[in-house]
Amino acid sequence: MKTWEGVVAVALVVLLAGCGILNDDRTAVFSSELASVQAFQSSVYALTRAKCIDCHGAGIGPQFASANLQTAYTLSRGYVDFSNIANSRIVARTKDGHCGGSCRGDGAEMIAAISTWWANGESGLESTEAAEQPVSVTQSLGIPALPSSTTVYTFMQWPLSSFLPTLSGAIFEVDIQQFNGSTYRVRNPRITSGGYTIKIKDIRILINGKYDPANNAYVTIETTIAANTTLVLSSIPMLMLQDKGAAQDQLSVQFGKLTAAP
Ligand code: HEC
Repeated sequence: MKTWEGVVAVALVVLLAGCGILNDDRTAVFSSELASVQAFQSSVYALTRAKCIDCHGAGIGPQFASANLQTAYTLSRGYVDFSNIANSRIVARTKDGHCGGSCRGDGAEMIAAISTWWANGESGLESTEAAEQPVSVTQSLGIPALPSSTTVYTFMQWPLSSFLPTLSGAIFEVDIQQFNGSTYRVRNPRITSGGYTIKIKDIRILINGKYDPANNAYVTIETTIAANTTLVLSSIPMLMLQDKGAAQDQLSVQFGKLTAAP
């Protein structure tokens, strides 16, 4: 049906959307967040409320099917990889039998639900966030020979110059050890700033380019490191499950925000 009302309606929507972005960034962010929560509610949430609620809405395991929609939304995001939906943790867990029949499928239903969530909401939010907050990832480095003692550490260093040329001389560093046959332990994440004042936020250590939501000890870091200092960013040691083993695993570091000023 091609009526003039239709044309006007489309023009209005375009106009209104344009105003939201140009004149009021906060409205734009808010409305895309709302769209994403709504898209989640009618897709993944509908599915987990139907099939996973006995545990994940009733105090057993992570509460991503909580009666509180906002809580469920935030937790669920941690188990989804929108850049590779089929690879999401929440998809894998619908196939591994951990909840009986409902978790012994081929994952197709969950993949479809996540795709809907992405298409109808989350994709808009990701682009708003990306524009606001560029994410920086260091190069991937192989793991050095690790001491097999749980008291001795070695260290790994990532130069920060690779994505911000002003940061030549700046380094991110952690201590690392082989905690047991399947686990690394890292501690004392720290930045040596070089000649610049560095602001950072949300640090994630990735294994083979992937972020495991269990490795979230440093995501809440948000701080400023003065020029010419070394600052330890957290006193919390973090255990990280190996992926392919120390001989093959590569670690990189992702910063939600990383800026430098002289
Ligand atoms: C009978 C209880 C039960 C049901 C029903 C259940 N789960 Fe779980 N689930 C658990 C428990 C317990 C854990 C925490 C221990 C673990 O990781 O296995 C868990 C953990 C998880 C995790 C996070 C753990 C991780 O991999 O980091 C995900 C994701 C998950 N379940 C997905 C689902 C989905 C999707 C459904 C519904 C299709 C579901 N579960 C139904 C008991 C259940």
